[in-house]
Amino acid sequence: MAFPTETVYGIGADASNAEATKRMYLVKNRPADHPVIVHIADLNDVDYWAQDIPDYAIALMRDFWPGPMTLLLQRTSNVKDFITGGQDVVGIRIPANTIALNLLTEFHKLGGRGIAAPSANRYGAVSPTTANAVIAELQDYLEPRDQILDGGSCAVGIESTIIDCTKSNPAILRHGAITAEMIEVSTGIVIADPSSEAIRVSGSDKKHYAPNAKVHINTVPQPGHGLIALAEVETPTGVIRLAAPKSIEEYARIFYAALRDADLQNLKNISVMPPAGDGLAVAIRDRISRAAA
Ligand code: TXA
Ligand code: MG
Repeated sequence: MAFPTETVYGIGADASNAEATKRMYLVKNRPADHPVIVHIADLNDVDYWAQDIPDYAIALMRDFWPGPMTLLLQRTSNVKDFITGGQDVVGIRIPANTIALNLLTEFHKLGGRGIAAPSANRYGAVSPTTANAVIAELQDYLEPRDQILDGGSCAVGIESTIIDCTKSNPAILRHGAITAEMIEVSTGIVIADPSSEAIRVSGSDKKHYAPNAKVHINTVPQPGHGLIALAEVETPTGVIRLAAPKSIEEYARIFYAALRDADLQNLKNISVMPPAGDGLAVAIRDRISRAAA
């Protein structure tokens, strides 16, 4: 079942069910050794999936869950290799979206422990932030028994922050709306650089989140090219304005939809002006550079 979260839409399967998750990987066309995040509704369910949890991770859970944050933790024996790609850590998240939380709660009442869900796009493509985008991505691969829950547009618009919580200091493996500053304030610990033997994160493949159109960063758009930039940037004559967000938050919310729009309009080139600054702007610049890779 595809469902909305506050970040992007996910395509979910019972995290304990090998058959279900296998089919989810197939629909997504994701390599089997790439791990997938387990979504839960309640802090009480963390211990089922994770153990040896550091105090700083508990601080993060209390401050930012439900929310756009995934924690990588030591796994328990309940976690099967088909969820982690054979690694000994598990990714867990409580999403802040009413439909997602209701789905997870109802699933729990039926005996389910968690829903494994990657973003509901084909492997390497742009994450969907509306139900229509999920249909566009996956309709050729779904069966009549599959379902898509329509929750409108996602509130955040880019994927969750992924934090490695298996070492003495937290490390950010994927930037998102929970920022480095927020993590340091919450935990009182300095963030570590991701170590060289870093855990594999598939979104960290250089080319990921990419549209068909070619993305150019900070170049002057030519007539016929698309343009994504803050509202203060004017649109040159003949350029197709794809998005003109008025804030960093709005930029994150509409960026993926703007990339999809460019492909729908069959544009060959998109000029993107990245937002400056830290906080959420760091995550947006990360997604822009991947879209351009
Ligand atoms: O916002 C999000 O995180 C969305 C929504 C649906 O929750 N999900 C999402 O999932 O972006 P996905 O699979 O597209 O990206 C999750 C990333 C992948 O790069 C995966 O490799 C990494 O998280 N990941 C998940 N579990 C992991 C684990 N046990 N160890 C290392 N990396 C993990
Ligand atoms: Mg993804």
